[in-house]
Amino acid sequence: MQKIIIKGGQKLRGEVRVSGAKNAALPILASSLLATGKSTYRNVPALGDVSTMKKLLADLGAKVDGRAGVANIDTSQITKFEAPYDLVKTMRASALVLGPLVGRYGEARVSLPGGCAIGARPIDQHLKGLTALGARIELEHGTVMARARRLRGATIVFDVVTVTGTENLMMAATLARGRTTLENAACEPEVEELAGVLNKMGARVHGAGTSLITIEGVDELHPLDHAIIPDRIEAGTLMVAAAITRGNVLVRDCLPDHLDAVLAKLRAAGAEITIEKDGVRVRGRDEIRPADIATRPYPGFPTDMQAQFMVLMTLARGQSVLTETIFENRFMHVPELSRMGADVLVDGRTAVVRGPTKLKGATVMATDLRASACLVLAGLVAEGTTEVLRVYHLDRGYERLEKKLRALGADIRRAKGSL
Ligand code: EPZ
Repeated sequence: MQKIIIKGGQKLRGEVRVSGAKNAALPILASSLLATGKSTYRNVPALGDVSTMKKLLADLGAKVDGRAGVANIDTSQITKFEAPYDLVKTMRASALVLGPLVGRYGEARVSLPGGCAIGARPIDQHLKGLTALGARIELEHGTVMARARRLRGATIVFDVVTVTGTENLMMAATLARGRTTLENAACEPEVEELAGVLNKMGARVHGAGTSLITIEGVDELHPLDHAIIPDRIEAGTLMVAAAITRGNVLVRDCLPDHLDAVLAKLRAAGAEITIEKDGVRVRGRDEIRPADIATRPYPGFPTDMQAQFMVLMTLARGQSVLTETIFENRFMHVPELSRMGADVLVDGRTAVVRGPTKLKGATVMATDLRASACLVLAGLVAEGTTEVLRVYHLDRGYERLEKKLRALGADIRRAKGSL
């Protein structure tokens, strides 16, 4: 396994380009199954979860090739309709092939994604929606089997706001007979981006980006050529890196409108944020102010930025309260941060951070994607050397983050790890 070694204390300066959005790329690549023929996707990030999705599509019979951020996917010969456990267990988002396979081919077998470090993460809402669309769902030996002659439009009200649940059902409904209405749908920019892609393929999706989405079913969709939006969570992570090191960084090619909640909290913490022509400039201030956050579905503060923001709050003078309302166990980074000297008290879904603390370098273990990003950020400001182990977690969701940080002046490198 590999590790990342960081010597803290460098202020980050310069400019950095944000890669394509992981959480847009995953449903968009899965949507290729809804059409027959070759689609081209650009600005595709080179990271672990995207390679897993490409492997899964190839496993189903698609021809997948491309390089340097371009993915060509030819779905002319889909021969299988099954997402096997070994792929699903490494990436829950494999469940995103469920909707397209049932919608286009009338059948799908997807291993139930087990829980993960941050929570149980069931897919009951995905299955409830497919049942409403007329699919027959059976569960056996940990696998979901879904079958339907042709899906028919329905009204689906989500009991809980679910990003991939909204995406799965939006995709399935594009080829159903009649109209489908999704109520209490997720409003994330990645949902809106997927709807744009589906409409470019010939679908008729309206209202994406709001909690009420309607889809008029059509008979077929066609392949397309599309460039994926920038990753708002990577952008937010790089902005925290600038603020935490008291640096001055232009985060290029990001979409500030997707980051209102994060920018507001960075400003509250004292960072100077300016929107420039081709990005967002973040200047960190010596004095960091405490700020309370509660994670919420978009446009609220994103749960995927909670761990990163917590590191900034360890340097703030005073007390900050961070409430995690989306996942039941998303404070796995706290024990590791505490080993670096952070003062964080966790009580259920609330973490109370007291500062400022002088973080000290240590050998720490990554447990999940955003927790590993948080530990890298902590290493940037900790006194001495920090080694972050098991960086395969980081590589699932960030495209060579250490190279981007090194280009901004961080003393950071990847090395072979024992663990
Ligand atoms: C998506 O996960 C993202 N992943 C996650 O990003 C992100 O943290 C999450 O949305 C919330 O914003 C992708 O888009 C690939 P949910 P998803 O369904 O869709 C419960 C990252 O770091 N729920 O919106 O799996 C669920 O348990 C990853 O990039 C049900 O109860 O999340 C959770 O408590 C991590 N039943 C809440 O809803 C269901 O059927 C939100 O989950 C579905 C979800």
